Amino acid sequence: MNTRNIIGLTAVFLLPFFIFGQTESIRIAFGSCGHQDKDLSILDTVVTHQPNLFIFLGDNIYGDTRNMRVLKKKYRKLGRNSHFKKLKSTTPILATWDDHDYGENDAGRHYPCKKQSKKIMLRFFDEPKSSNRWTHDGIYTTQYFTIDSLTIQFLLLDLRTFRDNLLSFDKKTHNAGNFTYDIDYAPYQSGDSTLLGTEQWIWLENELKQPADIRIICSSTQFGTAYNGYETWANFPHEQERMKTLIRTTKANGIVFISGDVHYGELSRQPNPGAYDLFDLTSSGLTEEWKFACPNEFRVGQPVRENHFGIIELKRNSIEPLIEFQLWDKQNTLRLSETIKLNSLTH
Ligand SMILES: [Fe+2]
Repeated sequence: MNTRNIIGLTAVFLLPFFIFGQTESIRIAFGSCGHQDKDLSILDTVVTHQPNLFIFLGDNIYGDTRNMRVLKKKYRKLGRNSHFKKLKSTTPILATWDDHDYGENDAGRHYPCKKQSKKIMLRFFDEPKSSNRWTHDGIYTTQYFTIDSLTIQFLLLDLRTFRDNLLSFDKKTHNAGNFTYDIDYAPYQSGDSTLLGTEQWIWLENELKQPADIRIICSSTQFGTAYNGYETWANFPHEQERMKTLIRTTKANGIVFISGDVHYGELSRQPNPGAYDLFDLTSSGLTEEWKFACPNEFRVGQPVRENHFGIIELKRNSIEPLIEFQLWDKQNTLRLSETIKLNSLTH
């Protein structure tokens, strides 16, 4: 299935692009884990960066209900929030979901209200009637942003609708360096479970074969981290490996991951022998925070524990295009910065 929408999205993006005249730099901002009852003024800080786009990466509200009236009411509360309205009136928005806005903590394919919840979510984010998100199961989709001769592909994954149950670890205590914590989940040892599901894998393979200069894979939970006992791709190691294999076999260039969910921010760099290293910039905590950052052997630099948002900045004003991974806190302080060459993401 082909979900390309170059012309539509390009039209949306051209306005902020021409107003600010910044052909040299494209800023893709994103965040996750924003509670509708809490202070969302960090979205005002996002707006000061004049991003070309903002991506809500999941836990966009804390719904946590099987009552769809309650879910709608919580979305409406976000919709009335002045900081959200300011972002929406100035910046094009894309969105996928995670567990809490899907409807239940750590829920997967057995959540019984997923079809109703999907309609509520897509309506809230003004999904066009023509979108094939309405007609296939789940909310995965592709969007394109073409500017000058550069094409950015956004692959918005759905990690909830098709995901099998997680393997429980019954709160086993995990030793991690100089501290211990209780963990929730064990990694699967066999390949008979799925995170993405058959149809989504087929769609993804097809999309990775389409031409693009940079591809942002938007994953609500973390892809690039080591196993840590909480919910991540590492609970499905065969699916994590399948993604890496797919990147090698399709020879898809320019891939970076963005993720959320964990209530802290970090940059992971996971090797993919035979291809190129896979970067995953996690931004989690528009309003939420966690008491510690899990150990992660793939982490680059330090985690950010305070509320923050992420930006992927594509810089075109040097000899060759650069990608800068950034995490900014609410006080507009740059807390993490890592720059790579775009052409390092090639086979
Ligand atoms: Fe989550």
